[in-house]
This record gives sequence, structure tokens and C-alpha cells, in this order.
Amino acid sequence: MTIVIDGKAIAASVIEAVTVAATSLESAGHRKPGLAVVIVGDDPASHTYVGAKSRMAKQCGFNSIQHTLSAGASQDELMALVASLNIDPDIDGILVQLPLPKHLDSEPVIQSILPEKDVDGLHIVNAGKLATGDLKTGLISCTPAGAMILVREIYGSDLSGLNALVIGRSNLFGKPMAQLLLNANATVTIGHSRSRDLPALARQADILVAAVGRPQMVKSDWLKPGATVIDVGINRVDAPEKGEGKFKLVGDVSFDECASVAKAISPVPGGVGPMTIAMLMANTVIAAHRRAGVAAPSF
Ligand code: GUN
Repeated sequence: MTIVIDGKAIAASVIEAVTVAATSLESAGHRKPGLAVVIVGDDPASHTYVGAKSRMAKQCGFNSIQHTLSAGASQDELMALVASLNIDPDIDGILVQLPLPKHLDSEPVIQSILPEKDVDGLHIVNAGKLATGDLKTGLISCTPAGAMILVREIYGSDLSGLNALVIGRSNLFGKPMAQLLLNANATVTIGHSRSRDLPALARQADILVAAVGRPQMVKSDWLKPGATVIDVGINRVDAPEKGEGKFKLVGDVSFDECASVAKAISPVPGGVGPMTIAMLMANTVIAAHRRAGVAAPSF
């Protein structure tokens, strides 16, 4: 039987461990972990994500602060907000929700976050630590860290001898995911829109991770029988069967047909999605421990 990887349940166990770690930090006389989430503009999907992050931070017992800037906020205003959060002693983690409105340049903003408060793992210091195999002292990007925990559920932590294909090469996901798989000894290929024959690359993969943003692009005839498939896509598609104007969320993988060929597959929703928020909480509690000079938990 195909294993449908239950991201919700695995995320719940991460959240439980984060909450325990936050409580014990506070009982030892330290501050609550503090997470600041910054959102610019009024994109509804981003507000939904940010709302979920802020609520989860409260549930974990954190000091959770949300800063909402208007859609017309300037680069300087945003940079000044990040600078104030960098020096705020109550804040351990800073997350600037992406994408930013078009007139703003996200890169200088992200690179201005102190690496030790960069709970998104996007600062070049954190990306560089991951790329050089230091998984202990930096902060790892949340979605790849969460996807990796799902891979670990199936294969354990040593992927020696296994072929992995990551489809997508973004800094937010594809590159750090490939680094994590490589660190776990997988033989890693990164496929993308300019790759010549993605289906052929996919058929070599024991672990296939799809993060392209194209609804149901990966078909069953792409899969090596018995592969583990991690679907990182979250695509809104029309769902007239649910009523006029309704939509549903689907991944980058054609779940129904791939489920019969794969050994294990993560669904959308309920796969990688809940793991992203859980790993943001994990990074925040890790950052809070380090700032308090206390040994940090690992997840
Ligand atoms: N937008 C979509 N995913 C993410 C994420 O992981 N971090 C941030 N900051 N923005 C996002």
C-alpha cells in the first residue's frame, strides 16, 4: 500500500516539541521566544499565511508580533523596521513575508536581517553555512527543512545510494533542498525549466521533490516505481464541481495517478504546507535558545 505522508501529524509533533522547548526556556528564567512577522500590502494569500504563522507562534507560547505596512510603504521604511527589530532585545526571529509589492527590492531587506534572527534561513550567511555542510550553527530555510523531515520519515537520515531529483532551483526552496539531500548523502540532481528531459530525469529518482508552481505537472509515467514523492507545490485551480467561482488547492504532482506508482507521497494540502509553519516555530525556538546562551534543541 502506498504511504500517504501525513504532514499535519508530523508537523503537530514538531509543534509539540517546540512548545515543550519554549516552556522549559521560560522556566529556566529566560524570556519567551519572540517572533516578528512583517507583511507589506494586502495580498490576501500572504495575509492568510501570515495570520497562520502568528497564531501558531502564540500557540507555541511565543511573544508573537505582526507588523503590517501599507502597500505603498517605501524601501527605507521597510529597512528601518527591520533595523529596529534587529536591535529589539525581545525579538529572536524576524520574517518578512514574500513576495513583496513590485516596487520593493526584497534582497537588501533579507540581507539586512541579522543572520541569527533570520528564521527564514535566507540570509547568505545561513545559505552559505548550509552549502558548506554546517547544519548546526545556522538557520535552515523552513520549507526545505520541513520537506526533509518528511523524507526522513520514509528513509531515515542516511540517503546513501539513493538518487534524488529536486525540480525547481529557487533560493527559497530548490537550492537549500538540494543541499540538505546532499548532506544526507543522496546523489542529487536539480531539474528546472531549462532541463532537457525532466520526465527522464524523474524516472531515475528514488526521491522526487517537486517545487515548480505548475498544477499537477508530474505524471505517473515520470515516476520510478516505488519512488518517494514530496510535493511542494500549492496551486489554486478552479473547482466548478464545488460551486461557481470556487477553487481548490492542488500540488505540482498529479496525486491520484502518482499514488498508485509511488511507495510514499505527500498530499496537497496536508503534506509539506503544515511543515513550513512548524519549522518556522522550530527555527524561532532554536534562535531564542542560542541568544539565551542555552543549548538549542534540534528537529
Ligand atoms: N512566501 C511563501 N513562502 C515563504 C516563506 O517560506 N518565507 C517567506 N518569508 N515568505 C514566503
